[in-house]
Amino acid sequence: MKKKRITSTAAHLAINGGPPVRKKTPPQKMLVDEAEARAVAAVLKSGRLTSLSNDAVERFEKAFAAYCGTKHCVAVNSGTAALHVALAAAGAGPGDEVIAPPYTFIATVSAIIQQNAVPVFADIDRDTLNIDPARVEEKITRRTKAVVPVHLFGLPADMDRITAIAKRRGITVIEDACQAHGALYKGRKVGSMGDMACFSFQESKNMAAGEGGAIVTNSGALADKCRIIRHIGMAAKYEYVALGYNYRMPAMSAAVAHAQLGKLDSFNERRARMADYYREKLVGLPVKTYDPPPGTVSANHLFPITLPTSGIEHTFEIYKALAAENVPVWWVYPRPLNSVDFIKNKRAYSKGCPFDCPHAAPAKAGGGCPVADELSARTLVLVTAPCYSEAVARDTVKAIWKVLPEFL
Ligand SMILES: Cc1ncc(COP(=O)(O)O)c(C=O)c1O
Repeated sequence: MKKKRITSTAAHLAINGGPPVRKKTPPQKMLVDEAEARAVAAVLKSGRLTSLSNDAVERFEKAFAAYCGTKHCVAVNSGTAALHVALAAAGAGPGDEVIAPPYTFIATVSAIIQQNAVPVFADIDRDTLNIDPARVEEKITRRTKAVVPVHLFGLPADMDRITAIAKRRGITVIEDACQAHGALYKGRKVGSMGDMACFSFQESKNMAAGEGGAIVTNSGALADKCRIIRHIGMAAKYEYVALGYNYRMPAMSAAVAHAQLGKLDSFNERRARMADYYREKLVGLPVKTYDPPPGTVSANHLFPITLPTSGIEHTFEIYKALAAENVPVWWVYPRPLNSVDFIKNKRAYSKGCPFDCPHAAPAKAGGGCPVADELSARTLVLVTAPCYSEAVARDTVKAIWKVLPEFL
């Protein structure tokens, strides 16, 4: 292979003044039609817009639980709220530890800290980018309350091994399925294997409501707790039984989510086709792509590619050059969460809480996450959103073939 170049002066690259592959980066939008418009209009015209007065939320909950193959669904107003509620329902609190991967969106971990529990990072597997069950087991202590496997970029985490470890060690499994609606693990929908699972319906997700979220579970007791925590701790009218929040999903969001649920499988088929296209067209370039492990079907939320770059600066130059070509390629998680300043320096709340509070165990030395460190610095994602046409996918591939050889 040629010697790697950190920068390129190639005149045909848009970053150096050449013509870009596309005139403008196409905006990512939700795919909506009359179905969503009609559903929202019906709620709006009813004049009853809250879940307390309109049954649109309950109807969506039933439909989403049925889709996931779970007994219960509790809809909330974001994926972050879903994680917070699930962790609260699991009883995670001061002095408890919750194991999570460092390579994920911040909300996975901020929800743990919001519950005043300490996030403990377990490194990821280099072939799936998901939490490595062997590393989870190493991080379990008598303080471990829960583990939060994330089905990152739509690819299911190794749930058999994770649930077996959790059962043996008596800890709760909360799936972060915010990027994996409809993904399959050994024939089961993700979200149906943990004690609870959390979804996001934020605008960019495989099915969306603009903003929104849900917890699904097979446990009636956990579902009841989640409902109370979501609704300001109220079990019945003005009967406050726990610390709660107002995380209720608005009825109009439920109407949108319900209409989107009916299209989820077709959206996921489009994502799968785009992922297959990327996989095929990138052959010949020195980039690593991620195939779903046997027995799993990815929801293809995003399509990660790992570059053979020499470090974060090198990746940044390539990323900037691709962005200049106006194609939808992002660098979503350039650094793992254990290196985020407020987490690393334990500055979440005042007085060191939750990390150094009197209830917490003194942090153990060492034990970083070298795989996440390495791969976050070298992994970009291609966008598989169903709003994108085949022309966008073609141009994305074109831009990658144009840019990469100039830098590698
Ligand atoms: C893995 C993961 N967890 C949690 C969330 C939080 O969801 P929301 O943005 O709806 O709060 C997201 C959303 O981006 C996510 O990707």
